[in-house]
Amino acid sequence: MTTTPAASKPVVVPAAAQTKGTNLHWHEGNISRAERHKQLQTTGATLWFTGLSASGKSTIACALEQVLVQRGIHCYRLDGDNIRMGLNKNLGFSAEDRAENIRRIGEVAKLFADSGCIALTSFISPYRADRDAARAVHEKDAAGAIPFIEVFVDAPIDVCEQRDPKGLYKKARAGQIKGFTGIDDPYEAPASAELVLKPATMSVEDSVRACLKMLADRGIIPNT
Ligand code: ADX
Repeated sequence: MTTTPAASKPVVVPAAAQTKGTNLHWHEGNISRAERHKQLQTTGATLWFTGLSASGKSTIACALEQVLVQRGIHCYRLDGDNIRMGLNKNLGFSAEDRAENIRRIGEVAKLFADSGCIALTSFISPYRADRDAARAVHEKDAAGAIPFIEVFVDAPIDVCEQRDPKGLYKKARAGQIKGFTGIDDPYEAPASAELVLKPATMSVEDSVRACLKMLADRGIIPNT
């Protein structure tokens, strides 16, 4: 783990983010991303849902995935709990592990998007620096920027706590879970997300419509 200075506060760079391998040479493909997308009639992007646990990220992503697939649009969901049972099963909830969780998913989502898929990621992703790093991986790709759309699922903590579908807030309040986001661990809300959804006042259908509009406005999916 190293710390690099930044304007406001130190940015924590997980040790795993540094390339350990040596003598590596990028192997270019025979076709460009543009050719692949044109031939496959698809456009890749990442929709990055961020928000507290039980804010509704996964519910909205699931509903959106259903609509997109019904329209014949290639998309795939990467869900925090699910990914933590496989690829990221060796990570916990310390700031370092959360950073590594988000770093890996930023890279994986970018690969999906590069392939022409719409990646729908739903992770709390509580730290702004980690989300910004995932954005940078997309926008600074050597073959050209890949669309990265940050979607803030802005449900207040009391709403999330009232829902508490997994009973985790109750456990955190009782001291049975330490470092639970929103209780005794931070959540840094996005300052300039491309889209803000308010599950307390918007239905899931409203949120899905807003996501579809955002994707259509950016030319990622056709207008209906
Ligand atoms: S993140 O902070 O690293 O982005 P991620 O979205 O992958 O988190 O996983 C969050 C899920 O893990 C929550 O929805 C909840 O089910 C579970 N969880 C278990 N412990 C914690 C914790 N201490 N803080 C937040 N979520 C937790």
